[in-house]
Amino acid sequence: MLEQIVRPLLSWYDEHARTLPWREEPTPYRVWVSEIMLQQTRVEAVRPYFERFLRAFPDVKALASCPEDELLKLWEGLGYYNRARNLKRTAQIIVEEYDGQFPADYEALLALPGIGSYTAGAIASIAFGIPVPAVDGNVLRVLSRLTASCDDILRQSVKRAFERQIQEIIPIDRAGDFTQALIEIGALVCVPNGKAKCDSCPLASLCRARALGMVDELPKKKQPKERRIEERTVLVLREGSRVAIRRRPPKGLLAGLYELPNLEGHLSEREVLEALREWGLSPLRILPLADAKHVFSHVEWRMSGYAVSLEETDDMEKSGLLFIEAKETQERYPMPAAFAAYAGYMNIVLGQEKYEEEKEHV
Ligand code: ADE
Repeated sequence: MLEQIVRPLLSWYDEHARTLPWREEPTPYRVWVSEIMLQQTRVEAVRPYFERFLRAFPDVKALASCPEDELLKLWEGLGYYNRARNLKRTAQIIVEEYDGQFPADYEALLALPGIGSYTAGAIASIAFGIPVPAVDGNVLRVLSRLTASCDDILRQSVKRAFERQIQEIIPIDRAGDFTQALIEIGALVCVPNGKAKCDSCPLASLCRARALGMVDELPKKKQPKERRIEERTVLVLREGSRVAIRRRPPKGLLAGLYELPNLEGHLSEREVLEALREWGLSPLRILPLADAKHVFSHVEWRMSGYAVSLEETDDMEKSGLLFIEAKETQERYPMPAAFAAYAGYMNIVLGQEKYEEEKEHV
């Protein structure tokens, strides 16, 4: 059924496509930069950033060697700064491994930092004319409505199924225009929130959702279950130049990875010291650290933390903790990003004051 949309959609695009700076000269570099900027930002907001960015970094070489500060300054206001950092990392890879030329290959594009299936498909089809799908949120809305699909578009399997359907129909002679036409009709006609302009849609007679009166109900997005909040107290335990880590259980969240020792709840200094003594350790000094948060898909950790220096004792190994040289963690023991805020403290030298005072009244 989707086969029938190709011709009317392309004719509509020929007549109605907006003039956008990245469309005028769709080189891989320009398409890539624009698609990354457009990932979380509206077209009108992107325009001035795109022009400024291209003036500052006219090609992939200029971007690869730019000072990070200048890059982040140009990105200021767009948000999601990892996009900018990934742009630079990818630019460096293109220069170093691809001799400054983007690979005309979907899989190779997909392997680059910051490039997912949508962006790889957009670059491959728009810049290289390779007939591969590029399915983003807008396209998912258009396709859900055309096919009256009630499937949850937040599920990867649903996105993959739509990608396969597009793969079947994408015209080999106009792959890039077809990609952009789907995006464009989602942006201008098949818009969300009860404002779809079905009367001026070139695909209205083919649209199942319209026939069934379901346009405003689609696409379906099942809200993910609410996250469980867990409070944890994370400990940076130091003995000389060594820090304590431990292995997480082989099943469940972050299975088998190493972690900083942590306890359930937000504990006071006194409670932490008690727990450490129960583990057979001899704390000398304790210092509270800043709070931190980490969001997983189903759980959110709200963390408080302490750095504690320990006296070296014979019982240390019995605690079940592993005492390692701080610099070893990065090389040998994979530590999940959830602990990043506290892993940064693994090298700090603790002051004397805190626990010395505390000891008086423990
Ligand atoms: N949104 C994402 N990609 C786009 C493109 N190439 N043109 C217009 N809007 C977009």
